[in-house]
Amino acid sequence: MYPAQNDRLTLLRAVESARNGIVLTDPNIKDNPIIYANPAFIELTGYEMDEIVGKNCRFLQATDRSQENIQAIKKTIEKGESITTIIRNYKKNGELFYNELTISPVYDESNKLVNFIGIQNDVTARMELEQRISDFYSMISHELRTPVSSINASLLALEDGSVTKLSSPGAKLVKIALSNCKRLIGLINNILDWKKLQAGKFKLQLQPWPAEEIIDTVIQEITPVAVLRRIKLEKKIISSAKIVMDPDRIAEVLTNLVSNAIKFSPDDTTISITLECGENAGSRIKYSVIDQGCGIATENTNKLFLQFQQLDSTERRPKAGTGLGLAICKAIVELHRGQIGVKSKLNEGSTFWFSLPELDYQDFDLKPE
Ligand SMILES: Cc1cc2nc3c(=O)[nH]c(=O)nc-3n(C[C@H](O)[C@H](O)[C@H](O)COP(=O)(O)O)c2cc1C
Repeated sequence: MYPAQNDRLTLLRAVESARNGIVLTDPNIKDNPIIYANPAFIELTGYEMDEIVGKNCRFLQATDRSQENIQAIKKTIEKGESITTIIRNYKKNGELFYNELTISPVYDESNKLVNFIGIQNDVTARMELEQRISDFYSMISHELRTPVSSINASLLALEDGSVTKLSSPGAKLVKIALSNCKRLIGLINNILDWKKLQAGKFKLQLQPWPAEEIIDTVIQEITPVAVLRRIKLEKKIISSAKIVMDPDRIAEVLTNLVSNAIKFSPDDTTISITLECGENAGSRIKYSVIDQGCGIATENTNKLFLQFQQLDSTERRPKAGTGLGLAICKAIVELHRGQIGVKSKLNEGSTFWFSLPELDYQDFDLKPE
């Protein structure tokens, strides 16, 4: 049903006022030329109206015609369907812009294809930002991770005495350097993992694993740090089970929670790491890390699992880190279809917990080895 005359004028005014470029083409004329372009299209491309009406929109591609999505656009138009894609286009003055283009067919009442409508959105700034972010990650990967790993390997060789026998102060310095190197590698890995998680490229290595073993691994790894602060790590198994998980990643989550608990606990306190299974756990299994630290105000607990968040109020002093640790934990737990949360009261300590459901390999399109 077409709108009444007045409504059509309203529609035209709306199209003319739009900030996106809008063109109409006529597929019933040879080469599907432009029959209408709105002022935003003219402003975006720098062409005059009489230079574009009657032409196919491909003139915006200039000589950059080997782009893969041009074929996809062509096929979609031939089928009378819609497409949204980002294509490199060029203004009249030759300047490149990234055009987020949506093309849709327009059919009349008798289902005859009468027009195509194209909506152009200049996303150059977004694409340039994405490129800079991508350059930043590849810099972290190549120019930071590679040399730091090599420094780490050299320090390890010095530590085990295979290169030379170190004096006692020398050995002490190597130990400090190694521990800082390890922290740096952890931070770099955090940043690269976060990128993978966001890009959906983070793959779990699922296998059946005894849930209790994760706690043993984590306690073994973190005890040296806890000892320095005379913090006791206490394991409490209420019930245990073997479930399908990515054990390295789940250990990483638990390590992160326990390390945080240590950071924010006073010396000479106890941190309990509990495991329970079945009904009471609210899911298949539930790990909890209970500390006797300063606690977190309720209004701050929601923020904790967001990226780049570090509580800076007096109750939790900011500590070194990327601010990604808990966001990564949440993403890993959610990849397992699980849940993560915290229960805390100021000055009464915190309980960070996560639960994992019974997983089926089919959920992940994976087969056990
Ligand atoms: C309504 C409509 C709007 C279009 N807008 C653009 C555009 O802004 N930029 C562009 O590069 N191509 C645009 N195209 C695609 C080209 O006109 C053309 O269909 C595409 O280059 C594939 O065909 P070809 O291989 O014959 O060039 C549009 C097409 C239609 C139907």
